[in-house]
Amino acid sequence: MRNESKQLSPILAHLEPSPSFPIKPSHAPAIIELNSSKDEADTGEPWWTDAVIYQIFVPSFKDTNADGYGDLNGITEKLNYLVQLGVDVIWLSPIFDSPMYDMGYDISDYYTINPLYGDMEDFNQLLNAAHRKGLRVILDVALNHTSSENRWFKKSVAAHLGEPNGMGDFYIWEDAIEDAQGNKRPPSNWASVFEGCMWEWVPEISKYYLHIFGRAQPDLNWENPHVRRAVYNVLRFWLDKGVDGFRLDAINCISKVRNEDGWPDAQIIWPLRFEQKANQMFANGPRVHDYLREMHDEVFAHYDALALGEMSCGITPELGSEFISRDRGKQELDLIVHFEHVELDCVDGDKWILRDWELPELKAAVSKWQTRMAEVGGWDTVWMENHDQPRGLSRFCKATKICRELGAKLLAMWLFTLQGTVLLYQGQELGMQNPDEFSEDMVRDVETVIYWNAIRSRHKDEGALQMLELARKAIVTKGRDVGRIPIPWSPSCHDSGGFTSSSAHPWLPIHPNLEEFAAEKQIRDHDSVWVFYRNMIRLRKEHKALIYGVYEIIEPNHPSIFAYTRTWVDECYLIALNFVGEDTDWELPPPCREGWSLVTSNYQQGQGDPARRVASDRRMFRPYEGIIWRKIKTDCATHNAEKGGIEIGRPSAGIRCVYAN
Ligand code: GLC
Repeated sequence: MRNESKQLSPILAHLEPSPSFPIKPSHAPAIIELNSSKDEADTGEPWWTDAVIYQIFVPSFKDTNADGYGDLNGITEKLNYLVQLGVDVIWLSPIFDSPMYDMGYDISDYYTINPLYGDMEDFNQLLNAAHRKGLRVILDVALNHTSSENRWFKKSVAAHLGEPNGMGDFYIWEDAIEDAQGNKRPPSNWASVFEGCMWEWVPEISKYYLHIFGRAQPDLNWENPHVRRAVYNVLRFWLDKGVDGFRLDAINCISKVRNEDGWPDAQIIWPLRFEQKANQMFANGPRVHDYLREMHDEVFAHYDALALGEMSCGITPELGSEFISRDRGKQELDLIVHFEHVELDCVDGDKWILRDWELPELKAAVSKWQTRMAEVGGWDTVWMENHDQPRGLSRFCKATKICRELGAKLLAMWLFTLQGTVLLYQGQELGMQNPDEFSEDMVRDVETVIYWNAIRSRHKDEGALQMLELARKAIVTKGRDVGRIPIPWSPSCHDSGGFTSSSAHPWLPIHPNLEEFAAEKQIRDHDSVWVFYRNMIRLRKEHKALIYGVYEIIEPNHPSIFAYTRTWVDECYLIALNFVGEDTDWELPPPCREGWSLVTSNYQQGQGDPARRVASDRRMFRPYEGIIWRKIKTDCATHNAEKGGIEIGRPSAGIRCVYAN
C-alpha cells in the first residue's frame, strides 16, 4: 500500500467477539488498574513504535486442510483470537514456495505461496480480513540467500554451463584455490552456520558457491546491481499487494569481505579443523550500509512499511545503531532484532554447549541495548523467544515446574514494560515451555538434524552414552524444534489440541503437556497466563510511559531482582521482578521508597498483604513475584531527578521534561 493511502482504524474498534471464545468483561485480572490516568498524547511516532507484533510460525499455528501443516486459512480463522489478545501486527514466517529444507527460509519462488499453506487467493483473503480487523501484516523474507531450487540459482548454474542468460553472477561463485602442495581447497576457510564449509563445490561447472547457512541456501550476490533490482522488485510486489512491511532475514549478512587477493581466511580458533568461525567476514560487511540505504530509497521510502532487520550474527549495540539512523539520506532500517540476551547460555557462541548465566549478565545485555537505542534516537525491539529459540519461560525462569504461571506472568511484565517494539511469539501468551523429555521424532529442524547426526556418528563407541545424553539435553533445551511445537488450541489430544483434524498427523509432535497450555481453557480463566498477557498489552497501550518512558536500571548487580524505572513526562513507573523461584529480600534504594502506588502484580488479588500496595524501603518478594508501581508528578525522586533533569522520550517526539527536586 502506498504511503498516502494507508489508513487503519484503531484496533479496539474492531473487537469482534469470537463465537468460540467469549471474553467476559467482568473477568478482572489480578489487581490491574486500567482506569488510572490515561496519556493520550500523540507522539507523532511511526505506527510500529508502540506496536505489539505477534509472530506466527505458519506450519505450527493452525491447520485447516488436515495435512498436518498450519496454513493461511488457519490464520484467517484465528484472527479474532489475535484481536482479542490485543496485538497490532502479525508477522508471518516465510510463506513463499520452498522445498522446506530450512522451514521456508530457503525460498524457491518469491512470487508464489507455498502450496502447503494455500494459494494467492487464500493470502489475499487473509490480508484483507486482517486489515478489516485492524491488524497489519508483515512478511518474513530471506533476501541474503535463496533455495538452491530457486529458478534464479538454476539459471545461474546454466549460465556457467554456457546458457547466455546473464545470470552467472547472481550468486557468489568462485574457483578452487591451490595450496603450495598443489592441493585444491575452497576459496576461504569460512565455516557455514549450519555445517561444514561455507563453500559448496559444483562439479559440473568446477566452481564453488558460497552459503552462509545450509548448503541448500546459496547466497545471492548483492554486489550485482541486477540482483539488487530483482530483490527490490520482490519487495515492491508484496507491498503493492498491501502488506505492511517485512522482517528481513539475516539482513546484516548481505555484504561479505573480499579484497584484491580474494577471500581472506578467518582467524584460526579451532586449530584441528579447516573451517573457522567467520562472522567478522560476512556480518556487517563493507557495503552493507550502501545496500540498505539503496533499498530504503528504492523501496521503503515509498511506502508506509516497516523494515525490521534480523541480525543474528555479530551485532552489538554500537554496530546496530548504525542501521537505524533517522537522518535523511542515511535511512536504512526501522528496527533491528538483536540476540545478545538469548546468547548468554551459549559458550563462545556455540548454542549446543550449555552455560549457566547470572541475572546481572541478562540485565547488562538488556540495559546496553535499551540505553544505546535511546542515546542515538533509535528504537529497540523487545523479545524473548521466536522460531529459532527455545521457550523463554524455560530459559529465563529456571525453576518453573511449580511456578509456571507465575514465571510466565513475570516475563510478560518484563516484556511489556521495556522500551521498544514488542515481538511476541506464538504460544508465549499461553505460557508454553520446552518439553521435558527428548524424543527422536522431535528432531526435524535442519540445524538440529545436522548436530544430532554428527554427535551420533562421532560418539559411536567410548563415552558415547554420556555424550549422547548431553546432546539430548542440549536439543531439548536449545534446539529450534522445541519452540515450533504446534499450538494447542484445545485440551483434547485426539485432534492434536485442535491444531489439526483427528485423522491427521501434525508435522511435529504435539506438546506432551498440551492440556496445561490450551488456549480455549485459558481464555475462559480470568487468572490465566493468556488473560494476564492481554491485560499487560492493554496496560502498556494505556500508559505511554511504559512505551516511551526513559529506562533506568536499578541495582544492576543484584543477583535476583531485575528492577528499573520508566519515566515519561509526569509519570514514573517502578518495575521490580524477582527472577528466582524463592523468596528474595530486597532493600529498595532511597530514591525508590516514597509515594508509589501499586499498578499490578502477578500474584492474585488477596494474596498480598495491604502493605504490598505501597512500596516501602524493604520488602520480601515471593518466588517469581513481579510488581509494578506508579507515581505521578515531578516530585518522584528518580535517578533522573538526582541528575537535575533529563530529556524524556525520543528526540523526534519533541518531548522534554525537567525534573525539579
Ligand atoms: C534466520 C532465521 C532462521 C534461518 C536462518 C537462515 O536466522 O530466523 O530460521 O534458519 O535465518 O535463513
